[in-house]
Amino acid sequence: MRVVSGIQPTGQPHLGNYLGAIRNYVKLQDDAVAAGGECLIFLADLHALSMPHDPKELYASTLELVATLVACGVDPNKAVLFNQAQVPAHSELQWLLNGTARMGWLNRMTQFKDKSGKNREGASIALFTYPVLQAADVLLYQATHVPVGEDQKQHLELARDIAQKFNKDFASEDAPVFTLPEPIIPPEAARIMSLRDGNAKMSKSDPSDMSRINLADDADEIMKKVKKAKTDPEPLPSEAKGLEGRAEAQNLVGIYAALADESMDQVLATFGGEGFGKFKPALGELLVETLAPIGERFRELKDDRESLDAILARGAAKARELGGPTLTATYDALGLVRGK
Ligand code: TYM
Repeated sequence: MRVVSGIQPTGQPHLGNYLGAIRNYVKLQDDAVAAGGECLIFLADLHALSMPHDPKELYASTLELVATLVACGVDPNKAVLFNQAQVPAHSELQWLLNGTARMGWLNRMTQFKDKSGKNREGASIALFTYPVLQAADVLLYQATHVPVGEDQKQHLELARDIAQKFNKDFASEDAPVFTLPEPIIPPEAARIMSLRDGNAKMSKSDPSDMSRINLADDADEIMKKVKKAKTDPEPLPSEAKGLEGRAEAQNLVGIYAALADESMDQVLATFGGEGFGKFKPALGELLVETLAPIGERFRELKDDRESLDAILARGAAKARELGGPTLTATYDALGLVRGK
């Protein structure tokens, strides 16, 4: 079992990152250790180049995100925690895979369409080829399980297509170079939506801070954001199917369910017939209960620069070791000679 996943170090990590991905990093790191496998979690700093970014802030926000991940339960003694920039094999493998990835495949990526918007011609090449780097990120380590939110599913399908075509073109059936990775998407928190618009994803890049719960928000901020979250005037139904067409209500009930480890039907068995005046304070309290210890631990860790640097250096050394054999096998399969 090889668990591999990444998270970008730009913007504030939020509840969507936590419920959609980070919680599963923690669970799968334990499963991997129990199965005698490995879990690699990395800060995708190379991906940050795909959008405008401030070089002066990049490493500081990378270290902050390391502190956040550790505060959430990613354990550097169980998982290999590192940043891509310290493992050049990610960029190298991307180039080697560029010969296999097809223009048509990348043209279909919805995230490129969303992020480039009306300015496709002005978008960076990195934004377009970003999914090939993401494929390299997981294929380099022969990932079997990739915990992600639903928005990354299409990128993982591309990684599988690239692996399959490369294996077919350059390897024999009984000795493939790459393993096909499986996305692990939590059904109850696949896509946490904005608190201001139930049809938009909760996102680091939303200009409104009221649209998301940041993992570093304090109890007052959390309660205020939940209280102001957009809803509708109807009481809650007693079953999940009654939430159809009520995007905001569905999102809030989904968040409650994910936090309480219950199904939406179970949540509605308790709150069905109630209005949001009763439901919102209960949701706010549950959020504070979950996030307060994370925020506390984050504040203890975030200024210990030496320890955070050391976690990344140790993780990167291990990642370089784990990725080495696949990188060599890829060069070899392509007939590229690196010398002795
Ligand atoms: P990023 O940094 O945007 O998000 C990190 C993780 O959080 C999940 N996520 C969500 N899940 C549920 N609801 C939401 N509203 C929500 N917002 C974000 C994302 O799905 C992701 O799992 N391209 C990736 C980083 C990456 C990566 C990889 C991931 C680079 N290489 C290789 C997996 C494997 C990204 O930008 O995630």
